[in-house]
Amino acid sequence: MPEQLTVYNPATGEAIESIPQQTAQEVEEAIERSHQAFQSWSKTSAGERASLLRKWYELIVEHKEELAELITKENGKPYQEAVGEVLYGAGYIEWFAEEAKRIYGRTVPAAAGKRIVVTRQAVGPVAAITPWNFPNAMITRKAAPALAAGCTFIIKPAEDTPLSAYALARLAYEAGIPKDVLQVVIGDGAEIGNVFTSSPKIRKITFTGSTPVGKILMKNSADTVKHMSMELGGHAPLIVDEDADLDLAVKQTMASKFRNAGQTCVCANRLIVHESIKDEFAKKLSEEAAKLKVGNGLEEGVNVGPVINKKGFDKIVSQINDAVEKGAKVLTGGTYDQNDEKGCYFVTPTVLADVDTSMNIMHEETFGPVAPIVTFSDIDEAIKLANDTPFGLAAYFFTENYRRGIYISEHLEYGIIGWNDGGPSAVQAPFGGMKESGIGREGGTEGIEPYLETKYMSIGL
Ligand code: SIN
Repeated sequence: MPEQLTVYNPATGEAIESIPQQTAQEVEEAIERSHQAFQSWSKTSAGERASLLRKWYELIVEHKEELAELITKENGKPYQEAVGEVLYGAGYIEWFAEEAKRIYGRTVPAAAGKRIVVTRQAVGPVAAITPWNFPNAMITRKAAPALAAGCTFIIKPAEDTPLSAYALARLAYEAGIPKDVLQVVIGDGAEIGNVFTSSPKIRKITFTGSTPVGKILMKNSADTVKHMSMELGGHAPLIVDEDADLDLAVKQTMASKFRNAGQTCVCANRLIVHESIKDEFAKKLSEEAAKLKVGNGLEEGVNVGPVINKKGFDKIVSQINDAVEKGAKVLTGGTYDQNDEKGCYFVTPTVLADVDTSMNIMHEETFGPVAPIVTFSDIDEAIKLANDTPFGLAAYFFTENYRRGIYISEHLEYGIIGWNDGGPSAVQAPFGGMKESGIGREGGTEGIEPYLETKYMSIGL
């Protein structure tokens, strides 16, 4: 492994910065420091942790422009979207600063001559492996509840976007959070992952990323029986029923599908549209998609930045080609700007019609700005299609009929449901998936639970 990691701007191919990578031995040392720091951090009062988190939140908001610029440079998303990510991410810190004070235990009626007292305590040092698609918010969504609960925390950010992690850590230290309580390690994902999973001192792994990598982390953590939080792949269906408000459905589909160039785990991946409205929906959606400006996210007016790297680009292109070969029609987009020398890849927002289940795009997560439209005639057929996947993260549907809405929502096997809403993510809500999309929830009152152990004491009188 080279000593330095160079981080590149995916929109220009320019090197942004080179930073040192840690060896396995250095990661072991970071774990030891985390373990030592846990002894004192876990004994601080909830109020003390809350005020440090609050200060961290305030500093992030104060520095939102420079943090956003860094996100755009290393990830590629448009600057205004990056500002949104910084505020979204900071919101988790504010939320969990408040939740720190609400970690309650309870007393339980016991047998005569006994008392039962239930308490909650921090699970221990936590290791986090975070993705490149939200270089800032996927860190704060994990670090804030961990720190609030009294855990110490080590972050291994994605190799494509480690600079935001360092920037967040610097502000945490400025806020007064001790350096060994929150650490960042950079390096090879598999190597660092193995050090984390094999260490008995790491008591919890929290991961956002692909389902195959999540499964490896789970298998490798079996020997030390760790707590696991897994936010894994998605393959979100978006159902537009015959009685949907079409303008609303188009607006919300745009928001869901093309956010971060389609590179989120909750982006609509399959548009399942009632046959009676499919032409009108497809026309309106294509018109809106064609208006999006693709380019460098630091330039004014750009709505869709580059895709992160060649691997991501190749997958998107192969899904489009496969669909077209099997009979899909390109309503808009379907073109690319590929520069292998610079490592820059842009995909024009694409809408595909006449899609069917023989096409790969109907079975694999795309992680790109491609909207495939498939049709249905009966709502049970749409629900069956929506659930026909090992994934269960987010699902969306559009209907103005509340009976039908309740029926659809109760039959979708998904952890997050957007009813007439393409942007359900919120700090107050429990984000997470069913089936192979993950384990545990992040955000909401549920978000601190995975960082807490339950202990009960039976007192004999
Ligand atoms: C993700 O893509 O993993 C996160 C998306 C979100 O928080 O909305």
